[in-house]
Amino acid sequence: MPHLHIKKFKKLEFPHSNGDVNFNFIASNANRDDEKLISTTIEDEDFFLLVREDEDKKLLKTDKLTRPSSTQKIHNALLSYAKEAKLEVLDSNVHHSIKNIHLEEVNSLKNIKFFADKFPDTDDVRIEVGFGSGRHILHQAKENPDILFIGIEIHRPSIEQVLKQINIQKIDNLMILDYDARLFMELIPSNIVSKIYVHFPVPWDKKEHRRVISTSFIEESQRVLKVDGRLELRTDSENYYAYSYETFINFPKISLEIKKNRDIVISSKYEDRWKKQEKNIYDVTMINELYSYELEIDGDFEFSKFLLSSVELLKLSGSTKKYDETFIHFERAYILDDGIMLRISMGSFNKPEHLYVIVRDKNISYYPKLPLKSKSNLLAHKFLNGVLNG
Ligand SMILES: C[S@@+](CC[C@H](N)C(=O)[O-])C[C@H]1O[C@@H](n2cnc3c(N)ncnc32)[C@H](O)[C@@H]1O
Repeated sequence: MPHLHIKKFKKLEFPHSNGDVNFNFIASNANRDDEKLISTTIEDEDFFLLVREDEDKKLLKTDKLTRPSSTQKIHNALLSYAKEAKLEVLDSNVHHSIKNIHLEEVNSLKNIKFFADKFPDTDDVRIEVGFGSGRHILHQAKENPDILFIGIEIHRPSIEQVLKQINIQKIDNLMILDYDARLFMELIPSNIVSKIYVHFPVPWDKKEHRRVISTSFIEESQRVLKVDGRLELRTDSENYYAYSYETFINFPKISLEIKKNRDIVISSKYEDRWKKQEKNIYDVTMINELYSYELEIDGDFEFSKFLLSSVELLKLSGSTKKYDETFIHFERAYILDDGIMLRISMGSFNKPEHLYVIVRDKNISYYPKLPLKSKSNLLAHKFLNGVLNG
């Protein structure tokens, strides 16, 4: 993660501009004085820089929730703040980097808004969840130039590596998304996907709610898959294999194919490692037999007029509201010069969305962007609107 290790944090007068970098306002954690967020805008992209002031170390870095798509922007913002506020930088992993030409030249990297605004118009898509080194999806995309491939990953170095390869190998049918694949599934139109690859997912033996395979992931997979479309799970974990099998067999209108130690065209980095250790590899393939209804997502993220006092609002911090199908957790509260900001997680239990809400002049808004327009977020929003209006 890019960061500057600084001697002492100094506050600028907000708003403040330096060329194309704008610092808009600062938000201070209401419950601890070692954390601040600086709202930053570069080329129409809004995000926060994070100030962490521990006793032994003071850091200026990027906020994970709102992190912009390019490392270049993060570097720019960090260096620009340090320069404008005259911070003394003790050390850092941020450089006045030369633009990464591979990232500059490819337009394969898409953000979630691209898919939420209008899903690409195609009737055959293949998806790989957690592509890692990308060996498999790069190979598949090259072998099938007429099919659109979408690779989803949350590990930034893997994404950058694959973007570089897309550029070098001039592949034009592969889109890359830096997002939680479990949330992305809710945006895909029904009946258009022919294959979903989930190869060597993290088993999360102690945190099952973080697993990719779950009842809701299978439900969404079945909806987006064409009839005869396939969800291919490949794992070295006997435990994950057994758990997935148990989860799959509860579904009607699917058939399952189970294989052990099957070789596939491309062996991934993980697969090579497990093979060396002579571990068993399991394939569970779900073949869909159901033609699904069209995806309908109705509703918006408007708030009604705000009624709670600032004190009542601050008291929400740390509390959780649970409902039958959704929840809202008020993680943290921040104080702004002219309002209050809340950091919230909400939505579905095993794949929540984390976001910020700002309350200013009796107006409430999500910041810096609206939640993803998914069924679970729209439902959570309805409850959040209720809570914030007493
Ligand atoms: C063990 S690696 C396997 C990588 C690759 N499929 C292979 O076979 O080498 C699992 C990958 O899934 C990614 N991942 C985990 N959870 C994810 C999620 N919810 N959405 C997208 N990617 C995820 C991780 O970042 C990691 O790169």
